Amino acid sequence: MKYEYNAITCSVNEGIALVSINRPKALNALNSKVFMELGKVFEEMEKDDHVRVVILTGEGEKAFAAGADITEMQQCSVLEVREFAMAANRTQGRIEAFPKPVIAAVNGFALGGGCELAMACDMRIASTSAKFGQPEINLGIIPGGGGTQRLARLIGIGRAKELVYSGRIIDAECACEWGLVNKVVPPGKLVEETRKLATIIADKSLPVLMLAKEAFNCGFNLDLDRALQLEIECFANCFGTEDHNEGMLAFTEKRKPSFKDK
Ligand code: CAA
Repeated sequence: MKYEYNAITCSVNEGIALVSINRPKALNALNSKVFMELGKVFEEMEKDDHVRVVILTGEGEKAFAAGADITEMQQCSVLEVREFAMAANRTQGRIEAFPKPVIAAVNGFALGGGCELAMACDMRIASTSAKFGQPEINLGIIPGGGGTQRLARLIGIGRAKELVYSGRIIDAECACEWGLVNKVVPPGKLVEETRKLATIIADKSLPVLMLAKEAFNCGFNLDLDRALQLEIECFANCFGTEDHNEGMLAFTEKRKPSFKDK
């Protein structure tokens, strides 16, 4: 990594990058600097061939991120907060569109902008102590980073409205039942369990994973006919890779494939 980060940390090990929001005393509240550094690190990792899968988490045991930084937003004018929300949106958009898989490992509070950041990732694994919600209504505001949009798409509009209108906080079990998280694991095993999934994914062909992500993300906002056509294009493009030859050959030879990312 060329850039020096201090509101986040990043380490890469065996193809898996662990990016951590590093403001534990403020429960990893998301200020402009965090959003800027997250945007930057994802930009760098896009070009870094050593990175195949990213895990995004929060430093400490209490929070993934307890929301946008209220102290920073407190004095903002309409124009200033709009800029803040646009910058947050750019970073979340970069994470969502990041071509390789991104898993959020939610270690504690994921509230407001924290929940929204987790939703910009491809998947979420939560510890039993994780808590989710969009409590902005208690501050006299509404979510501004996807809480009325990505949340509704993930868990359905009725449940999303319940969380946004009431500010209610739900635990990890409920979040799992509602489809906001994929799996709930004990707090001490969160990174280990997330790494296990990341390792399984990192073992696949990267260009093929990227085609799968493109089919999901680009198809999601299209009507079904156009989305299915897009999936056909992505599927067909897999046949332009050497890895699909290897995958099919390995199947017929009854052995594990050895993908080369080509
Ligand atoms: N912004 C700034 N600072 C925050 C913060 C936030 N979102 N959340 C927590 N902190 C700070 C606290 O001010 C406190 O700092 P001090 O020690 O300097 O006082 C420190 O983190 C620890 O927090 P608490 O003492 O409050 O810890 P707790 O265990 O008693 O409560 C909590 C935990 C329930 C998460 C509580 O901190 C809380 O309610 N936080 C705010 C949650 C929230 O409203 N998030 C939405 C923000 S708005 C948003 O995100 C808008 C958007 O969509 C773009």
